[in-house]
Amino acid sequence: MISTNRVYVETNRRLWDGWAKLHAKSDFYDLERFKTGKTTLKSVELEELGDVAGRSLLHLQCHFGMDTLSWARRGAQVTGVDFSQQAISLARSLSEELKLSGEFICSDIFELPEVLDRQFDILFTSYGVLEWLPDLQRWAQLVARYLKPGGTFYMVEFHPFVGMLDDDAGQRIEYDYFFSAEPIRSEEQGSYADPEADFSHTSYVWAHSLGETVTALISAGLRLDFLHEFPYSVYNCWRFFEERAPGKYEIIDSKHAMPLMFSIRATR
Ligand SMILES: C[S@@+](CC[C@H](N)C(=O)[O-])C[C@H]1O[C@@H](n2cnc3c(N)ncnc32)[C@H](O)[C@@H]1O
Repeated sequence: MISTNRVYVETNRRLWDGWAKLHAKSDFYDLERFKTGKTTLKSVELEELGDVAGRSLLHLQCHFGMDTLSWARRGAQVTGVDFSQQAISLARSLSEELKLSGEFICSDIFELPEVLDRQFDILFTSYGVLEWLPDLQRWAQLVARYLKPGGTFYMVEFHPFVGMLDDDAGQRIEYDYFFSAEPIRSEEQGSYADPEADFSHTSYVWAHSLGETVTALISAGLRLDFLHEFPYSVYNCWRFFEERAPGKYEIIDSKHAMPLMFSIRATR
């Protein structure tokens, strides 16, 4: 299984190299606005993680580093990790251009112990990360390994319920809620940030239920401070979302409140 997963992960890495290039030019990520000093962090994580000034922060799956560097602007000493060389090169050049200090490491998170051997006050990860990981138990062990005793883990993520919905209208259940070792294969056209882009690539993702995520963290030795579920998404990254309040997206025409994001804070 591990060698099969390597093929899936390598395919995904090439996808993300392509997407990183597209995303840097997209309105969705709005790099120019970030360069003028605007944070890319949302009020959910700003309020729930709180003050990071003077604390060391490890950001797993940091993409091209805008969130990581937004934490640096708030005084954290940041380290970002991503397996896409394109994303990490861009993060490093942003860090240099904006004179925001940050360390960026290109590595599959599961291979990180080969290149990073110290612990952090805070471990952060957000929005669109878990589905790319074939093994949440190993992920949670990694989280625990990189946190100092008493350190804080914080994540905010799309709810696994959203992952069950069909890609077009979001009105039908099309995918399993629970993990299966066999990933969901899709042929991506463009990307969630730029659906019209002239780019196509295969992706492999894995479903992870909320119970699986929470249990993996507890089994790795973390103590949960909270698990929050939200009836909206702060990102408009599915065709089936509409803006119901400023910056809050829900499923088009839905009449009932559904879980669209969740956040977890835990202590080691
Ligand atoms: C949806 S993005 C996260 C976006 C982030 N919230 C942001 O907007 O800055 C997911 C990231 O996970 C990275 N990724 C996926 N699988 C990975 C792995 N096994 N190891 C390291 N990074 C990975 C991708 O390269 C991508 O940058």
